[in-house]
Amino acid sequence: MEKLSVFAGRANRPFAEALALTLGTRLGQCSLEDFPDDEVYVRILEDIHGDDVFLIQSTSAPVALHLLELMFLADACRRGGAARLTAVIPYYGYARQDRRVLAGETVAARVVVDILRTGFDRVIAVDLHNAAIEGFFDIPLEHVSAVPLLAEALRPSISNQYVVVAPDLGAVKLAQKYADLLDLPVVYAHKVRMGGRKTRVHRIIGEVKGRSPLIVDDMISTGATMISTMEELLNRGCAPRMILAASHGLFVENALERFSSFPVEGIWVTDSVMLAKTNPSMPLHVVSVRDLIGEAITRLHRV
Ligand code: R5P
Repeated sequence: MEKLSVFAGRANRPFAEALALTLGTRLGQCSLEDFPDDEVYVRILEDIHGDDVFLIQSTSAPVALHLLELMFLADACRRGGAARLTAVIPYYGYARQDRRVLAGETVAARVVVDILRTGFDRVIAVDLHNAAIEGFFDIPLEHVSAVPLLAEALRPSISNQYVVVAPDLGAVKLAQKYADLLDLPVVYAHKVRMGGRKTRVHRIIGEVKGRSPLIVDDMISTGATMISTMEELLNRGCAPRMILAASHGLFVENALERFSSFPVEGIWVTDSVMLAKTNPSMPLHVVSVRDLIGEAITRLHRV
């Protein structure tokens, strides 16, 4: 069997280092630098001839830089003689642009797959925004889910007074998955997006009066989706004890701080994205996907 080698870009080095340890190895040495004109310099500093190489990089913000850096790493490894290359993408950016809603739009999620397939033999991703994106891949994709881990971590904080809330129709299947794992009922919100930072919830389908909401989503970005859902749930008389859970905590533009004016008891995310230093008073809980991804890498390395 080829030797397993692991390298990482700069999106989330602490996570990548911990993942390498889980695999019983260490991150391969490489140079990753920025030129003054903003170009990126990548150089692999180890002999990887004939290796089975896994490159870890979340395509979180700055998305274009992290994606390009990942592709440069792949190119450097290929030129360095790697036998097989797998992109390990704990948070997969651009997945939300998975179809054309308005005439003239791009399907960016497909373009990203086309870019990845020029450099990689396989991809590992966690909780893609829409599982239908799997259909864009014509290289093998190992799509793993952090939902069972999050549900298990949430279990001690959840009573049968809770109800799982899907904050939009795209989250219905996800909410059902949490509901099945935690044995809770589900309600659905009807969200309308009015731009990248503004959403409104028109309707809640199901009974929330007196119940505590567990609002689940694939990601929290600006927090607008969670906030508009919380506002409508409170209007409908839910219990003022809410829990938010998402696989990916992007928390752009002070999203976390914006939650502080709501009765949020806990916010649960994974470490797929490197979190900025947060106010220690925020009830933020981070569940690691290190072992989940480690198992996927071990599985793929064997075949
Ligand atoms: C959208 O369909 C996604 O599933 C999330 O609901 C959305 O991306 C969250 O973004 P934000 O936190 O900015 O509302």
